[in-house]
Amino acid sequence: MKFGHFDDAGREYVITNPRTPWPWINYLGNEDFFSLISNTAGGYSFYKDAKFRRITRYRYNNVPMDSGGRYFYIKDGDTVWSPGWKPCKTDLDSYECRHGMNYTRITGEKDGIKAETLFFVPLKTWAEVQKLTLTNNTSKTRKLKIFSFAEWCLWNAATDMENFQRNFSTGEVETEGSVIYHKTEYKERRNHYAYYSVNVPISGFDTDRETFFGLYNGFDEPRVVLEGRARNSEAHGWSPIASHYLEVELKPGESEDLVFVLGYVENIQEGKWESKNIINKKKAKETIARFDTAPKVDAALEDLRNYWDNLLSIFTIDSGEKKLDRMVNIWNQYQCMITFCFSRSASFFESGIGRGMGFRDSNQDLIGFVHQIPDRARERIIDIASTQFPDGGCYHQYQPLNKRGNNDIGGGFNDDPMWLILGTTSYIKETGDFSILDEQVPFDNDMSVARSLFDHLTVSFDHVINNLGPHGLPLIGRADWNDCLNLNCFSEDPDESFQTTENKTEGSRAESVMIAGLFVVYGRDYIELCRKTGRQDEAERASRHVNEMIVTIKKHGWDGGWFLRAYDFFGNKVGSKDNEEGKIFIESNGWCTMAGIGSDEGLCKKALDAVKERLDCSHGIVLNNPAFTKYYIEYGEISSYPVGYKENAGVFCHNNPWIMIGETVAGNGGRAWKYYRKICPSYLEDISELHKTEPYVYSQMIAGKDAFNPGEAKNSWLTGTAAWNFYAVTQYILGIRPGYDGLIIDPCIPEDWKSYRVTRKFRGSIYHIEVTNPASVSKGVKEVSVDGEIIKSNVVPLFEDGENHTVKVILG
Ligand code: GLC
Ligand code: GLC
Repeated sequence: MKFGHFDDAGREYVITNPRTPWPWINYLGNEDFFSLISNTAGGYSFYKDAKFRRITRYRYNNVPMDSGGRYFYIKDGDTVWSPGWKPCKTDLDSYECRHGMNYTRITGEKDGIKAETLFFVPLKTWAEVQKLTLTNNTSKTRKLKIFSFAEWCLWNAATDMENFQRNFSTGEVETEGSVIYHKTEYKERRNHYAYYSVNVPISGFDTDRETFFGLYNGFDEPRVVLEGRARNSEAHGWSPIASHYLEVELKPGESEDLVFVLGYVENIQEGKWESKNIINKKKAKETIARFDTAPKVDAALEDLRNYWDNLLSIFTIDSGEKKLDRMVNIWNQYQCMITFCFSRSASFFESGIGRGMGFRDSNQDLIGFVHQIPDRARERIIDIASTQFPDGGCYHQYQPLNKRGNNDIGGGFNDDPMWLILGTTSYIKETGDFSILDEQVPFDNDMSVARSLFDHLTVSFDHVINNLGPHGLPLIGRADWNDCLNLNCFSEDPDESFQTTENKTEGSRAESVMIAGLFVVYGRDYIELCRKTGRQDEAERASRHVNEMIVTIKKHGWDGGWFLRAYDFFGNKVGSKDNEEGKIFIESNGWCTMAGIGSDEGLCKKALDAVKERLDCSHGIVLNNPAFTKYYIEYGEISSYPVGYKENAGVFCHNNPWIMIGETVAGNGGRAWKYYRKICPSYLEDISELHKTEPYVYSQMIAGKDAFNPGEAKNSWLTGTAAWNFYAVTQYILGIRPGYDGLIIDPCIPEDWKSYRVTRKFRGSIYHIEVTNPASVSKGVKEVSVDGEIIKSNVVPLFEDGENHTVKVILG
């Protein structure tokens, strides 16, 4: 069953039934000011950091689901309704929500009145702009009462939810004209406030929540709305809100636009006040003035649209396969931008409080957007590397506001360092900007111990070889990519976190075959980079280590039919035929086949076949099999999950592309493509009632074959799945891959694909690539011509000339 449809031309997903199986959301803003917005206008806003600068309040996991948002109430006689259906849930004559690229438009109609709401954060603006357009489609003059609503969060989203003995006494507001200002804690250490304005005179306002709703009413029945009159309440403590009251009269056929701005301001210390206890409103007024008419708002939306036109013009495909094209051209790239902005912090599954920017996550996210915003990728790489330790180890996460490592989350995840090599080399291949390697980058944010970024890559590489275990495989540390395979924790206490509890390293023999495979893949990238930059000796040294690791994996990481996953604390095998449960895992088989380890001896083929046989199911490839049915203290969190969910045999979508890429390395385009389709959201639209999450973005996890409800997805939006799938499909299936010296063309497709076209802007030229497959092969480039001339290799040269170039590729 579907709840809407794609509008590819408008780059929108159109929801036509507000009762989606889960709130289907969108993100507004892509730089400093952000909002989450559901299909019924639920959600919240923040400035840069969803924990420390939360602007509006949200209630997670509530009854009903998705409570709190920017709401409009329309009182028409005795009927009260909302354009987004919620919170009133009054039956509407029509409802539509269009989620587009960083904007959302929700339209409701009731008794001949149409209310169209547009929400977006204009470029370079610290505010969410909301345009409410009311139209009278009847032949009578209509009088409406409009109430807006936003609820202030007391800035720190964590303490806002717990410290009521203080919070209920601190809230402060100011109102002036049609603007409501939220200034809690401004008179002490904060230099920021928020505001909510409307561009017309108001007939009243409320800023005290209890006055607005009545203590025992829900969002669906605010007292003042039912009474039809604002009470002009001023909040002193308790829970400050912002609501404008407007009276609107519409003649037959008439329309009126109202523009609301929900914004954030920072002032310098000396410029905080206008007069005693009256805040300096200059900056707020400037922003409000930029959007005080509907044409100004429309122009700003047009700018946003142009911005996205440009971002999405860098890689486009025309394959004739609509569901593929819409993911590659629009939604997958959009989701990559969102994961770039938020890492794993703020979604409808991540509270914005618990997690900052992940070291490994942010590096992996980078491969999904580096072609779009290379400058910001560059900055991100430096930020991430600045939190590294001199020995190459890492904080697992850092906070976006201060860009410092966050110790509360733990560290010692031994895969972390290698991902910096992926991030950095991807950036250089895209841009050709080797100068980034010479940037002086601190360790643990301490500039006095800064070294070049290249040196950071060296310590990353060395962190692996300096931490080898008894078999010569990398020690796993607290965990590798799989946060939940905690081989050194032995936790018996339900009150401690697997991530931060003691990590027993003394005497541990716990090694990771996944890190070993990762080391081979990115070790080779490191070697290639050394050669490119004239560091021959370092390249030789690194090659020796990589070659040794390959030998070690074949000797100690092969289990006969597939690659082992790990050795545990005691040196016992994990992910082996000898295990009763968890005989085979996806991660090590993904990385070792991507690295092609033992492909000549047939190891990769065997491993990929084993994955197909044991891990594949109709909803994707599960993480491990058989699932763990009991708690294994020596494995940790992975065995804490019920079977089929999350890391315990869920389809963890993030790592499915590793197998897809492994299949392309082995030349199996058909299989890679089948795996791609299984988890690709546009292909799952028809089963939305089962899949549950948005059909336009990837989810982190789909319940696996052993689960109670296989096929049900969770954790949409903020997942490495976005970047990895974009990377796998564009670079390995479609096979258009940036290299240091040109664009590498190396497709691996199903044999029955006849042709496709890709336009790729790369290093200052536009390549129009046409791939044809007359011999029905899966892989193998027979001929490449550029502007009519056949070239000798499959690397299309750089022109850097701003011109269009025609590339014709014949497979065979
Ligand atoms: C989550 C984490 C990521 C981790 C993965 C597997 O997606 O953000 O860092 O690798 O889970 O545990
Ligand atoms: C990852 C995993 C999750 C685990 C968390 C711990 O996000 O997906 O299962 O609880 O890491 O931080």
